[in-house]
Amino acid sequence: MDSAPTQPGIVIRPSTDADVAAMIDIYEHHIRHGVGDTGDFEEDRLRPDDLKRRRKNMRSKRLPHLVAERHGMVAGYAYAVPFRKRPAYRYTLKHSIYVHAGHLHAGIGRRLLPALIEACAAGGYRQMIGYIDAENEASLRLHEACGFTRVGHLPAVAYRHGRWADSVMVQCALGTGSSDQPSTWRQEAAARDAQAAVATT
Ligand SMILES: CC(C)(COP(=O)(O)OP(=O)(O)OC[C@H]1O[C@@H](n2cnc3c(N)ncnc32)[C@H](O)[C@@H]1OP(=O)(O)O)[C@@H](O)C(=O)NCCC(=O)NCCS
Repeated sequence: MDSAPTQPGIVIRPSTDADVAAMIDIYEHHIRHGVGDTGDFEEDRLRPDDLKRRRKNMRSKRLPHLVAERHGMVAGYAYAVPFRKRPAYRYTLKHSIYVHAGHLHAGIGRRLLPALIEACAAGGYRQMIGYIDAENEASLRLHEACGFTRVGHLPAVAYRHGRWADSVMVQCALGTGSSDQPSTWRQEAAARDAQAAVATT
């Protein structure tokens, strides 16, 4: 990973309910204008209660939901959710990141994404996946700078603004990645062994 440039005035912190309106503003701008992972404006509208509920659910699963403040204003946010629901995928996350239109290319992504990676690794997760619109040069560069590699190209998987769009799948190992077993798995295995030992005595 390239070292993140130090930008004065940027603070990364967990989001709170008080940030919800600012996060919705950022999101709605990008679904109206952006080349992000978004599509139809009315279908994709995010309601304040949905966002509050999502934040609460995520906290209970040790999933980070972060905001970036720039000069005291919420200028971006990022979060990660389970990659797939089935238990075998429980150590893998997928994430989203959005920066306010008035604060683009000011180094916020380069602070926010590494902070998200660090928080996910601290939660015991091992892989992080992102889907990026193939034309989203800013996001592709940001992810590469933060240690993600391109692992797949998905042709014509999105239809928005009247045309088909490709996605690029990117991946980053968290913590020790796949080089050892996850600690919670080791604890579960030890508990199973202890139970088996009790059953045979
Ligand atoms: C992608 C996004 C999060 C980047 O955030 P950002 O704060 O503007 O990014 P940064 O200023 O930290 O720049 C990070 C790197 O991205 C690249 N980049 C940023 N803006 C760029 C632009 N307009 N054009 C080309 N490259 C750009 C640069 O390589 C930059 O690194 P460098 O300038 O140090 O070389 C932001 O553009 C965004 O919110 N876009 C809309 C939503 C979106 O696409 N989210 C991602 C969905 S996968």
